[in-house]
Amino acid sequence: MKLWKRLMAGVAAIGLACGLTGCSGLDSITGGKRIIRIAHAQSEEHPEHIGMLKFKEIIEEKLGDKYEVQIFPNELLGSAQKAIELTQTGAIDFVVAGTANVETFADSYEIFSMPYLFTSQDAYREVMNDTEYMQKLYNSTDESGFRVLTWFDAGTRNFYSTKPIHSPDDLKGQKIRVQQSPASVNMVKAFGAAASPMSFGEVYTAIQQGVINGAENNELALTNNKHGEVAKYFSYDQHQMIPDVLIGNTKFLDSLSDEEYDIFMEAAQAATEVELEEWQKAVLEAKEYAQNEQGVEFIDVDVQAFRDKVVMVQQDMLEENPNIVEMYEHIQQVNKKYE
Ligand code: GCU
Repeated sequence: MKLWKRLMAGVAAIGLACGLTGCSGLDSITGGKRIIRIAHAQSEEHPEHIGMLKFKEIIEEKLGDKYEVQIFPNELLGSAQKAIELTQTGAIDFVVAGTANVETFADSYEIFSMPYLFTSQDAYREVMNDTEYMQKLYNSTDESGFRVLTWFDAGTRNFYSTKPIHSPDDLKGQKIRVQQSPASVNMVKAFGAAASPMSFGEVYTAIQQGVINGAENNELALTNNKHGEVAKYFSYDQHQMIPDVLIGNTKFLDSLSDEEYDIFMEAAQAATEVELEEWQKAVLEAKEYAQNEQGVEFIDVDVQAFRDKVVMVQQDMLEENPNIVEMYEHIQQVNKKYE
């Protein structure tokens, strides 16, 4: 989206979210219904948006006399970190964001930024779909004003750049955008590149203007976010699987009756089911489009060579952050089942 259009849309959206309600997140502009505001950073074609439409459908079908759900895509209410803050303070009610953006709010979420944490997609999905196990982590931020309700698959993260990357050596001297995540900054440095943290919405222009050489993400970043127009080499080094999560304002969630709360949880679960199904299709489509329409070259690399570079990053993280150790061990057990 052009910058001015983005700004105008953002101003209008924030006006709606804050101006009319004094940013309290309470009361609304339509006939006595409480407006539920949800922010996310993806386009309207993205599996997460489709998942959140399911969330909206269920809430409005079952509680439509009381609630209206409004979804703000494309970082309209600000970058992921900004939107988490808005959710934390109750200016909006929900945000979908990557756990890398949550780690500065709650360091136990750092676990998912650990490079090569999951050794297969099956292990990743099994861990994340174990809602009972995840509850402890999800509820651990209640005192900070937010709680996670569910997760979304955001695929496997890989490097892509204006210059081909065949081995870790090719990263030397390259400036790579990372999420605003200290763990990801350390990881990229360990690979030998310079790390440039910035919000998702800034990446396209930064590559186009040569401020950075590339970034790292799943295949959809090439198409949904158009990065494939400016970065033509995508290397399958598979360094991270970082989930996105649906985060709600604790006060709002606690204000719901038991029955309402169950419906919100049911809607969140349904959103995940829709998203997981859409995700597989979306990755295949994105790859095909990137290859055929954008001229992106997909490069298979020796993953072990990349893994070797960041062994110390894993160890340092475990030593420095006791809050991630238990989950790390749990994930190792699940990994073993699929090796
Ligand atoms: C993916 C992920 C987002 C994340 C983004 C990024 O799109 O789904 O949650 O914010 O990457 O790299 O910033």
